Amino acid sequence: MATFDLLIRDGTLLTTSGEERADVAVLDGRIAMIGSLGRAGAATTIEARGLYVLPGVIDTQVHFREPGLTHKEDFESGTRAAIKGGVTAVFDMPNTKPAIVDEATFEDKFRAIRTRSWCDFGLYVGASPANVERLEALELMPACAGVKIFMGSSTGDLLIPDDETLKKVLFAGRRRVAVHCEDEPRLKARRPIAEKAGQPSAHPEWRDEQTAFEATSRLLALARLAGRRVHVLHVTTGQEMDLLAGHRDIATIEVTPQHLTLAAPECYERLGTRAQMNPPIRGLIHQERLWRAVADGLVDMIGSDHAPHLPEEKARRYPDSPSGMPGVQTLVPIMLDHVNAGRLSLRRFVDLTSAGPARAFGIARKGAVAVGYDGDFTIVDMAAKRTIVASWLVSKCGWSPFEGRAVTGWPVATIVRGRVVMLQGEVIGEPAGSRLRFAEALNL
Ligand code: DOR
Repeated sequence: MATFDLLIRDGTLLTTSGEERADVAVLDGRIAMIGSLGRAGAATTIEARGLYVLPGVIDTQVHFREPGLTHKEDFESGTRAAIKGGVTAVFDMPNTKPAIVDEATFEDKFRAIRTRSWCDFGLYVGASPANVERLEALELMPACAGVKIFMGSSTGDLLIPDDETLKKVLFAGRRRVAVHCEDEPRLKARRPIAEKAGQPSAHPEWRDEQTAFEATSRLLALARLAGRRVHVLHVTTGQEMDLLAGHRDIATIEVTPQHLTLAAPECYERLGTRAQMNPPIRGLIHQERLWRAVADGLVDMIGSDHAPHLPEEKARRYPDSPSGMPGVQTLVPIMLDHVNAGRLSLRRFVDLTSAGPARAFGIARKGAVAVGYDGDFTIVDMAAKRTIVASWLVSKCGWSPFEGRAVTGWPVATIVRGRVVMLQGEVIGEPAGSRLRFAEALNL
């Protein structure tokens, strides 16, 4: 019988057929065989009895801040946090210093991170009024996950505030465009609410439901005109979900584990500015509506929006405190805990974290445990109970909004193209992550 590079024995696989108790073998980075591989040999064998073998988890929204300030997150620490948390690939955001807006900044970033990534990666390029003419070419650069639009100001200075420029961006290029939907004019007009309050509990009032809804409505109207596929990042309101349900031919939907897990006002009382992110954590009514959208099949994927602001930055007085929370390392355990609590099935988890991103973004060879696909696996122990503690965290920010939370369901191994990079919580080997390949640019 054949010799493989990696053999995962006797796990419960989630394949495209459903749940299957089987072995899976990887050769040259790809899944070579699935079945009863009793006599096969392999350089590395993992005994997975009692464990679920899932297709590798893809986190479609992280901010690893490269290029950026040296004491903050970088691609090495961010991707190390990713694999420690069971994530095998990420899409990194362009609101860095400098922002990723042209060939030079994109290529500099790619060169800098190429040999320092623990997991596979796609990189967004940011839309700005100055680069509209170039977007069509920029979105086809190797490793590019697509174009990212900020309709409202958040961290950094990337911004497309008006319909005229937004329309130009949507007419430039063909790939799915990812969008942060908050309406800039309304954000500006309402900022005094935050300044007057001086408390993060005012965050969902300043950046209210209407702020999100107006941006999403404007986006969908123009996307339809342009015949352009869009991806609405971190949807937070029931109103947007109702609207988006009528636009599923052109729009895909992402939600974050934070918006599914935390709720106002409790999160602001307990976490202060650490609960501050854009768009904001809202009340339980919206959280319930997001869960219904998960159950109804409306949500396409989960992204952590990992935004690793330092404790000293978060200590500034609101609203001068920055928005965002870390999350790439906690995405898998937090969502598996929800699986154990009966809020979604493990199959739905796989669809949201692997098959969904692969389908929506056309990621080549990812998103399924299937022969010929990349040997990316997130192996999980659904019975493991542990508490999220600061000492387990790898991100340079050193904190998590979920610290102290007891969680059932943990990643026990992370495998990227057949290489075991995390086993029983230990990071192994060298960073050997590679760029993702996308359907629209397979020749690259
Ligand atoms: O809370 C947020 N933080 N939302 C964003 O859109 C950006 C992010 C960041 O980069 O810090």
